Amino acid sequence: MKSIPPIRKATRADLPLLLALERAIFPDPWPPSMFEGEIEWGGVLVAGGVETAEIVGFVVAVFERNRVHIANLAVARDHRRQGLGRRLLDEAIDAGGCKGARAAWLEVRASNAAARELYTAAGFREIGRRTGYYRRSRLLGREDAVIYRRDFGSPED
Ligand SMILES: CC(C)(COP(=O)(O)OP(=O)(O)OC[C@H]1O[C@@H](n2cnc3c(N)ncnc32)[C@H](O)[C@@H]1OP(=O)(O)O)[C@@H](O)C(=O)NCCC(=O)NCCS
Repeated sequence: MKSIPPIRKATRADLPLLLALERAIFPDPWPPSMFEGEIEWGGVLVAGGVETAEIVGFVVAVFERNRVHIANLAVARDHRRQGLGRRLLDEAIDAGGCKGARAAWLEVRASNAAARELYTAAGFREIGRRTGYYRRSRLLGREDAVIYRRDFGSPED
């Protein structure tokens, strides 16, 4: 079992490795400009040693008025099931809490069983769906986005 690498705020210098990981994992990767913007806002956390110049995971948190939107989360394939995804998620949520957020929310493909298990284990609950929101493939057509939310305080907050 590998130990979890350090997690820190991303800087612009991390962009090439961040993009490489994003492109290796997602068929429809974010463009560089989206990462650049979120790095400027301070909402991107990366996991990996500075010295080894390796990034093995990241999370993008967008701080809204009183909520934090988990906009992106990924762990390199050979580092999965070691608790890193959960750590990245928890740190992003903590950062949102420090900025006054009272809830976290996110969207995930209905077919993404691993991520849905992670979010459920982390205390998120399904609150809705966007029908046919994501493109799957020409053969498989479209699939729903499932919306999850986790409240930090009482449900009335
Ligand atoms: C989803 C993802 C970030 C999880 O990262 P990870 O580091 O493997 O997750 P963790 O090791 O922290 O898992 C925490 C818990 O989530 C659940 N989980 C994670 N991966 C799972 C899987 N493949 N199958 C079932 N449950 C899973 C388990 O409850 C797990 O706890 P356990 O290992 O004690 O059983 C990773 O699979 C990934 O990068 N997937 C591709 C990108 C992606 O789908 N991102 C989310 C977009 S919304």
